Amino acid sequence: MTTMTPALYRVVDRLRDTDDTVTVALEPVDEPLPVFRPGQFAMLYAFGVGEVPISVSGRYGVGGLLHTIRAVGATTNALCRPEPGHMLGVRGPFGNGWDLPAPAGADLVIVAGGLGLAPLRPVVRHAIADRDRYASAAVLIGARTPQDLLYPDEYDAWRSAGLEVFVTVDRAAAGWTGQVGVVTALFDRLNNHSTETTAYLCGPEIMMRFAARGLTDRGVPPDRVWLSLERNMHCGLGHCGHCQLGPLLLCRDGPVVGYDVAGPLLSTKEL
Ligand SMILES: Cc1cc2nc3c(=O)[nH]c(=O)nc-3n(C[C@H](O)[C@H](O)[C@H](O)COP(=O)(O)OP(=O)(O)OC[C@H]3O[C@@H](n4cnc5c(N)ncnc54)[C@H](O)[C@@H]3O)c2cc1C
Ligand code: FES
Repeated sequence: MTTMTPALYRVVDRLRDTDDTVTVALEPVDEPLPVFRPGQFAMLYAFGVGEVPISVSGRYGVGGLLHTIRAVGATTNALCRPEPGHMLGVRGPFGNGWDLPAPAGADLVIVAGGLGLAPLRPVVRHAIADRDRYASAAVLIGARTPQDLLYPDEYDAWRSAGLEVFVTVDRAAAGWTGQVGVVTALFDRLNNHSTETTAYLCGPEIMMRFAARGLTDRGVPPDRVWLSLERNMHCGLGHCGHCQLGPLLLCRDGPVVGYDVAGPLLSTKEL
């Protein structure tokens, strides 16, 4: 087997998160792939349809994986459909992952837009497991509507474990009593944001640009603001060049990039 050969994984569970998004639990049929670190991604292969990069949103049992997938096209639709028992191909782990652990005593700020909470959920789990290491830990979540929120049933448990969790939606629905507005508006709810902050951002690129700028304007050093970036991926191994962003190959040098490096690249058109 090589890193270009998919390993066989069996779908053991499938949970519907939103109208267009499901979380699939996969277990290896043979030897599991090496452990995926938070922020790394797999190339998931729907046999006969195609292969796409999907982040790990958690671990499942021993050697198993959780992936939260939004159906946007042919391959992601095929990956969202399989019932338990179906087989998928998995290559990985790919990419560098989140810079964890953050320095001891840091104020952790996790900023998620929409599906961006999927690759950040392992950071949330790390913050809970290592809560005593950090001065504070806050999770800021934005979604289009209340129905688009990922993992809403977990927020109370995250709060009980000592995290601050703030939620906002772009458009309220009947019965919504929470905040309405963009996720950066939640920065006003943070007690601690300073040179001691380490921030983890994932969501639409425009949201990450505004959020990173907002945090650095508040004194967070750019090299302590981490963004998970998306580009088309093909090999996952730094060979094909599909995922190039300026001098970076995001499958190899990313997908997680510090804002000190990503900032100038994201503000350059056509890169
Ligand atoms: C490192 C990395 C991690 C990722 N992690 C996840 C994840 O955890 N869960 C997940 O669901 N997706 C994730 N993605 C995005 C996922 O790879 C794409 O949605 C997928 O490649 C689309 O393939 P497709 O064949 O289904 O659709 P395509 O036929 O390629 O695209 C269908 C339509 O969707 C649009 N589209 C393509 N990609 C996106 C996108 N990212 N967002 C919105 N619209 C898009 C296209 O422009 C097109 O209009 C990740 C991408 C990268 C690079
Ligand atoms: S996906 Fe081939 S070089 Fe990155």
